[in-house]
Amino acid sequence: TVDLRGRHYLRELDFTAAEIRHLLALAAELKAARRAGTETPRLTGRRIALIFEKASTRTRCAFEVAAADQGATTTYLGPDGSHIGHKESIADTARVLGRMYDAVEYRGFEQDAVTELAEGAGVPVYNGLTDQWHPTQSLCDVFTMREHSGKPLEEISFCYLGDARNNTANSLLVMGSLLGMDVRIAAPEALWPAPDLVAQCRRIGEDTGARITLSEKPQEAVRGADYLYTDVWVSMGEDHGKWKERIDLLLPYQVNADLLAATGNPDTAFLHCLPALHDHDTDLGAELAREHGLDGLEVTDDVFESPASLVFEQAENRMHTIKAVLVATLGRN
Ligand code: CP
Ligand code: NVA
Repeated sequence: TVDLRGRHYLRELDFTAAEIRHLLALAAELKAARRAGTETPRLTGRRIALIFEKASTRTRCAFEVAAADQGATTTYLGPDGSHIGHKESIADTARVLGRMYDAVEYRGFEQDAVTELAEGAGVPVYNGLTDQWHPTQSLCDVFTMREHSGKPLEEISFCYLGDARNNTANSLLVMGSLLGMDVRIAAPEALWPAPDLVAQCRRIGEDTGARITLSEKPQEAVRGADYLYTDVWVSMGEDHGKWKERIDLLLPYQVNADLLAATGNPDTAFLHCLPALHDHDTDLGAELAREHGLDGLEVTDDVFESPASLVFEQAENRMHTIKAVLVATLGRN
């Protein structure tokens, strides 16, 4: 039996497939209970600190609502207003918060920061996104695929398109490999995941049955895929000067109606961790898209708004899956 009490949630590579499956089953149970109005709090009196060195809508709200539903309280520490990263080191912050809180969530830049926090806090630490990994996102994503497809994850294929070097892509690659999925990545080779990570995932796949394909041919890569997944082309913390180059490099990987049709699968659904780049956006990318007369960048509006798009179900599932992580690591039985 799986027991995750006291564990950190820092990156998928720290977990076995059985542990991830346990979290997915717990998330399904918690979602059903909330819908039925029969949820019982298992985190009464727990205190959770939420550190965000980057902006967030979904992750912050998911942690706060999940904690509240389960009887826990949260304290939000935003990019400004605390000493973290300015006047006080991560190591000292960890020792302070660990004496007051039962767990700490951290969103920031380098993965080393969240690892250091976990080493010093003495309580479970959750990675709410770093430059390298976004493990609460990938848990939500496979949960959403499992729920929507209604079949075992080993029988599900997804194709991630665009910037395949970012946190979301790295996390999905590992998660899909652990769970034995058909994992496809369509991106220019310069933006493929790091070769050592791909090699590590292929080794995992030898045990789990995962198929891992990297391609520069989006139309071929998506054939038959159950899900097309994309993310912004320039991530938080990256140099915005990259936008021009990324648009040139990644336009062939845009998820648009033609690419959706190229799957040849009428049931292909669309996923995006959000936020997605839209034309009302004030980001430099949106400005350039307008200049180029483009209807969207990583995804066009027609796909985003189509019945194939599951992005808001996916966003809701952040809350149920984060709740599962909290209950599994902090819950009283
Ligand atoms: N998907 C995601 O992590 O969204 P936020 O940046 O709004 O938390
Ligand atoms: N790759 C994106 C994900 C946002 C949730 C970023 O890091 O900005």
